[in-house]
Amino acid sequence: MQAIDVAIDAAHRAGSHIREHFGRPQRTEMKSPTEIVTQVDRDAEQIIVRTIREAFPGDDFLGEEGHTPQEGAERVWVIDPLDGTRNYALGIPIFCVSIALAVRGHMALGVIYDPLRNETFSAELGGGAFLNGVPVRQLQRKGLNEAVVCVGMVPAQSEDNPELALPMLVQMRHVVAAMRNLGSAALGLAYVASGRIDVSYQDRLSAWDMLAGALLVNEAGGVATDFHGEPIVLSSDSIIAALDPDFHRVVLEIAQDVGRLRDVATAPGAVGVPQPGLD
Ligand code: 2AM
Ligand code: CA
Repeated sequence: MQAIDVAIDAAHRAGSHIREHFGRPQRTEMKSPTEIVTQVDRDAEQIIVRTIREAFPGDDFLGEEGHTPQEGAERVWVIDPLDGTRNYALGIPIFCVSIALAVRGHMALGVIYDPLRNETFSAELGGGAFLNGVPVRQLQRKGLNEAVVCVGMVPAQSEDNPELALPMLVQMRHVVAAMRNLGSAALGLAYVASGRIDVSYQDRLSAWDMLAGALLVNEAGGVATDFHGEPIVLSSDSIIAALDPDFHRVVLEIAQDVGRLRDVATAPGAVGVPQPGLD
């Protein structure tokens, strides 16, 4: 079996397990002050790793629920077994499975699976992006004032390095049609790749939240970078993704403006973090 088919099979198996347990009471544990985890997250990761290991016994894994690759590993499967855990635990039907393969740190394939809607988003490097096996539709050009922008936010603020997503939102709301927060970073990126959402951005992310989605957006003909404009790699921690390169550029400029303000505000002797657009 090809690697992409193995990834899709693993995502579907984990997705079935996730779907079976959806709506039942979930025992949640705190992983950090802002992050929860359920047994379903852990079991789904095991299902994915087992499925892929059977096909590729020599490969390594980086999984949100505990798998870490050996240093210098060439082929690393990057797994978020359940992206949108808080939605899942609350009974909100917005979550997905995200699986990417990184070869020497660079994305080779990505699969995002929504088990409730049975939607499989998939891409291989150089091969285009697909929704349920059908190529995603091409970009329809429109103005930024008609654009729907998806923002992901992580509530934890560190005083010397605050999140940029919120002050960016305050600026952006003046120039776009609508803002959304889905609560699943990976699904937001899959929706950009498939043309449902025009831009998705978030900082404070991990590779497993965005690697598959970034490849999907690239392969759909779009642009995905971090907040510095650099391509998404295993070590990236922020993302701006859009099919329309003009939308990507505008949001990147806002990220950089807000980042400069933050750097001024957090420099030694500064008094606080300004909130651009709030007076
Ligand atoms: P998760 O559900 O897999 O934890 C929520 O806006 C989105 O951000 C989700 O995709 C969530 O992934 C992700 N996220 C990443 N780091 C987070 C954190 N520290 N706290 C909350 N959500 C986080
Ligand atoms: Ca997760």
